[in-house]
Amino acid sequence: MTPPPNVLRASPFAEDQLQLIERLLREASPEQVQWLSGYLAGFQAASRAKEPAASAAVAARPRVPLTILYASESGNGEALARAARKEAQRSGFAPTLLDMADTAPERLPPGDLVVIASTWGEGDPPQRAEPFMAALLAPGAPRQEGRRFAVLALGDRAYANFCATGRMLDSRLAELGAERIAPLEECDLDYAAAARAWTTATLAAFAPRESATEAAVIRVDFSRAAAEPDESPPRFEAELTERQLLSSSRSSSEVWHLELTHETRDLAWEPGDSVAFAPRNDPALVSAVLEAAGLVGEDPLRPALADRYDITTLTAPQLSAYAALTATPPLPPSFLEGRQLIDLLEAAPARLTPGELTGLLRPLPPRLYSVASAPEAGAIHLLVSAVRWQSHGHARNGVASVDLVARRNAGERLLFTLRPNPHFRLPADPGCPIIMIGPGTGLAPFRAFLQRREAAGAGGKNWLFFGARNFTHDFLYQLEIQDWLSSGVLTRASLAFSRDQPEKIYVQHRMWEAREELWRWLEDGAVLYVCGDAKAMARDVHATLLSIISDATRCDAEGAAVWLRSAIADGRYKRDVY
Ligand SMILES: Cc1cc2nc3c(=O)[nH]c(=O)nc-3n(C[C@H](O)[C@H](O)[C@H](O)COP(=O)(O)OP(=O)(O)OC[C@H]3O[C@@H](n4cnc5c(N)ncnc54)[C@H](O)[C@@H]3O)c2cc1C
Ligand SMILES: Cc1cc2nc3c(=O)[nH]c(=O)nc-3n(C[C@H](O)[C@H](O)[C@H](O)COP(=O)(O)O)c2cc1C
Repeated sequence: MTPPPNVLRASPFAEDQLQLIERLLREASPEQVQWLSGYLAGFQAASRAKEPAASAAVAARPRVPLTILYASESGNGEALARAARKEAQRSGFAPTLLDMADTAPERLPPGDLVVIASTWGEGDPPQRAEPFMAALLAPGAPRQEGRRFAVLALGDRAYANFCATGRMLDSRLAELGAERIAPLEECDLDYAAAARAWTTATLAAFAPRESATEAAVIRVDFSRAAAEPDESPPRFEAELTERQLLSSSRSSSEVWHLELTHETRDLAWEPGDSVAFAPRNDPALVSAVLEAAGLVGEDPLRPALADRYDITTLTAPQLSAYAALTATPPLPPSFLEGRQLIDLLEAAPARLTPGELTGLLRPLPPRLYSVASAPEAGAIHLLVSAVRWQSHGHARNGVASVDLVARRNAGERLLFTLRPNPHFRLPADPGCPIIMIGPGTGLAPFRAFLQRREAAGAGGKNWLFFGARNFTHDFLYQLEIQDWLSSGVLTRASLAFSRDQPEKIYVQHRMWEAREELWRWLEDGAVLYVCGDAKAMARDVHATLLSIISDATRCDAEGAAVWLRSAIADGRYKRDVY
């Protein structure tokens, strides 16, 4: 784009500054120029922030409508969308915040659209956003001409389908005729700073340019953009007061009950909520990484590698970055299969500086655990399965689960963040029947549900489906479940111990066996909850539910899918799976 030279020459800039501006504008696309104009308007507004007259002038102008649409499972995207709404409001937009779960493509308000979406499962949308995504991807989806949009994708580079939902949204909106106003932003787990910068730049790009004839003026608020998001969930420290192995020593799994006491006042959690645990890496692995990188003796680096950096995950960008750094040929992507950072450092040894090593690493992400107790129990309980496996001849341990169950001692203080899960709560009506499907550690939130219903004397019927490998070795919270059955808190328990007989029996088999009664409960308005493994269990349970609905209503697969979609929309089928 060529800048008008006469206008530039009459400016208050020095010759060298003018040359810089001229060069920038000559090489800029119309989209970049538009972004820059919004940026400058916002920059100016920030400089004038202390002048009340300027703010009043902005406030007096009509606001520009903007839809902020989010798809979120564990709340990261939702918090970013809320922060974006605040920033948009401060900047003179009239933003509408929409959860994808509560809308449909044909009901989206017309006009500019900011989308923030995370990816779950194995490249899937957040569950409650599935109907929206299916409708947007369907052949008859509404055209989007005349709409401008920008997408921020949340994901985790450790997954093969990194940011798949955001990528899909970005390409589909363009395919349907909408105009992409900013490139897709793909964020890893350390998304906070990138998301803040993206929000600011995107709002500036959407801002109409100031002119004498335009009534609406946007000033993107740069003074606040650098601040922390306003709605960060509460962090707290808790003391590990008890740890008990629930599975027997002869079990093939290792599941622990943990109790944590905290002194944080006002730490209000609800049954169904989770906590995010900030883990510490295995000190033996820290030593191995330092040694493999030729950094033995770099003791100041040790604490950072212990609790600030992710030293296990290995991703394709890390393979390339390491190859570039060490001037070695990059290992093929197939090397990633089942391998960790230490395998890379040992396969292609090189001496790194501390900065080179940490430059390869992302921040250590926290891990989520469902709270297995209601506040009435007086403490936070967790049900943690130790993740341990063998890979390429090495014994490997899950960072957080093994830290919690094996490396921390009673009396130690641990760092958590409360992760409220408003979409996985007990029904407001204590008389409403509930069906809980929670094999393995999926049992955790249902223990909290049952504690709450017992404490409240709730009259609603409660049906639990629980499963594990062996009755003798893996029946978690067996005595409590049996007590709840005898006291009537649990109306029914359907148990599936997969390895107690020659054929494998899982919770979905128990659901099918009890399909007539299960359907009667659903017809009576029961809310059905699923928690636990996403890869196999939740998919099989979903498929079985579809079969049960088809069987009961004599409808085809599409009819059953419609029934389940409306159950999701009505909050009668809720999942918290991982
Ligand atoms: C909303 C939510 C609630 C959750 N609630 C609970 C809960 O109540 N209890 C609970 O125990 N967990 C729960 N989890 C899971 C928990 O957050 C962690 O993911 C889990 O403990 C593993 O973390 P880690 O740090 O120990 O393992 P990581 O260090 O993260 O390692 C896990 C990774 O190891 C690899 N891996 C694991 N097993 C194998 C194998 N056999 N072969 C090859 N590679 C393998 C995989 O790449 C896997 O992704 C929940 C997760 C979510 C999202
Ligand atoms: C069980 C599970 C599965 C996930 N699957 C993917 C995935 O396939 N691809 C990806 O990029 N990110 C994946 N993620 C990472 C999430 O997208 C990431 O944590 C994101 O910040 C969550 O945002 P939300 O809280 O708004 O849902 C997964 C996370 C979990 C816990």
